[in-house]
Amino acid sequence: MLIHVPAVLTPDQIATVRATLDAGRWIDGRGSAGHMAAAAKDNQEADLTDPSVRAQSDLILRALSSHARFGAAALPARICPPSFNRYTGGQNYGTHNDAALLCFPDAAAPRWVRTDLAVTLFLSAPGDYDGGELVIEDTFGPVRVKLPAGDMVVYPASSQHRVEPVTRGARVASFIWLQSLVRDDSHRRLLHELDTTIMRLNQAMPDSKDVAQLLGLYHNLLRMWSDT
Ligand code: NI
Repeated sequence: MLIHVPAVLTPDQIATVRATLDAGRWIDGRGSAGHMAAAAKDNQEADLTDPSVRAQSDLILRALSSHARFGAAALPARICPPSFNRYTGGQNYGTHNDAALLCFPDAAAPRWVRTDLAVTLFLSAPGDYDGGELVIEDTFGPVRVKLPAGDMVVYPASSQHRVEPVTRGARVASFIWLQSLVRDDSHRRLLHELDTTIMRLNQAMPDSKDVAQLLGLYHNLLRMWSDT
């Protein structure tokens, strides 16, 4: 399931994040990739140990945590600290798979996150660069994603994906992995469709006992399919 979530950040927030990133240090992105992915990877990443960069990561985490539509679709259990990457001068990231498990040793105790979902939050306007599409291999074929600054795409981290070469300008984005309360993508999809249907029905028929019963069904499925 691919979900486009528009306007996650306001234009002011994007300007703040970009000003900090543009003034900060960028490091070779290959350092954070596994052996095989590193061979396909050519980009830069912001230095998350820099407190000013970490503050922007925290800003995005807060925006995600309070976003109702994202929460309903992703059902996040654990969200990795948002990171930032930049592609310029022909840089790209060839077709690869993301690691299934990530560990964050800087937490009080090492914390594992199973990467159920990947998120790309675009921080450059599409007109500011050529190329740089995120291409996700879906069951229906490849999907090419290039969104306005402040919008994000949520997709299964289990899919193969790539970033096309950026042939003009700079593509800056935040990338995020998360573990969902619901591990199975097809279960998560059914829950999301049921949830959005119930919301629509509830607007058309407030106080309906049938809608309340459907909501009970949603929660019973969530109880059956979730782990915490
Ligand atoms: Ni990836």
